[in-house]
Amino acid sequence: MKKDSTSKNVTLSVLRKMKGKKKIACLTSYDATFSRIMDDAGIDIILVGDSLGMVIKGKDNTVCVTMNDVVYHTACVVEGSNRSLIIADMPFMSYNDAESAVNNAKQLMQEGGAHMIKLEANERQIEIIREMNFCSIPVCAHLGVRPQSVHKQGGYTLHGKDSESMSRLVEHALAVEEAGADILLLECVADDLAKEITNTISIPVIGIGSGKYCDGQIQVLYDLLGISDPMPKFAQSFMHANRSIKDVIIAYIEAVRSEQFPA
Ligand code: KIV
Repeated sequence: MKKDSTSKNVTLSVLRKMKGKKKIACLTSYDATFSRIMDDAGIDIILVGDSLGMVIKGKDNTVCVTMNDVVYHTACVVEGSNRSLIIADMPFMSYNDAESAVNNAKQLMQEGGAHMIKLEANERQIEIIREMNFCSIPVCAHLGVRPQSVHKQGGYTLHGKDSESMSRLVEHALAVEEAGADILLLECVADDLAKEITNTISIPVIGIGSGKYCDGQIQVLYDLLGISDPMPKFAQSFMHANRSIKDVIIAYIEAVRSEQFPA
């Protein structure tokens, strides 16, 4: 897509200024057409999520997603977008050590055109985030439910249910911030805990299934359109009340900004 030099790009400094003032609206996308529509509608962040394993490849988890998949879909999304910040997900096993993490992030940024990468951060990944920060790679750290660990954990395990795991999650959030993460994504974290983390750390916190107190919200596009099967419990389809896909996305952005979503 030809870049429109008149529209203001969503950069990391724009997102930092939005924290605590204006809710950040984010969606996943995997192709140029949907990205063009959501970029036109005013979405702040587009995530090329490894949820593509489910919604594009038809599998029941994200483990099947490869570097080639994410590079290809990121390049498609970048082609369709004009002003949104594009985050590319690092696939399963692509960031086990600092060297491969940096090389794979480099590929997502140089070949895919991503502005930032996202990784599911366990304790070991703190040093990897630090190394990426050292290499000027912007990082979104994903905490809470970490879908890439589904086989190891025997399902999608919820974190922060008891006081010990709650304080561990707060410490973990502080540690990823200290290591240099630029954005934190919380998946399926209890509302009050997500609120505490959002108020404790200084980087923007984006939630999915984590209540309305986060600095922003993200949904998988196909959930928003009501065409995922099955639909996650925390997802909300905006399709029934709107006439076009662009209207759906505008309604979603307004609902996030005005704190009507999540209910
Ligand atoms: O892969 C993805 O789409 C994600 C979202 C669920 C946040 O990580």
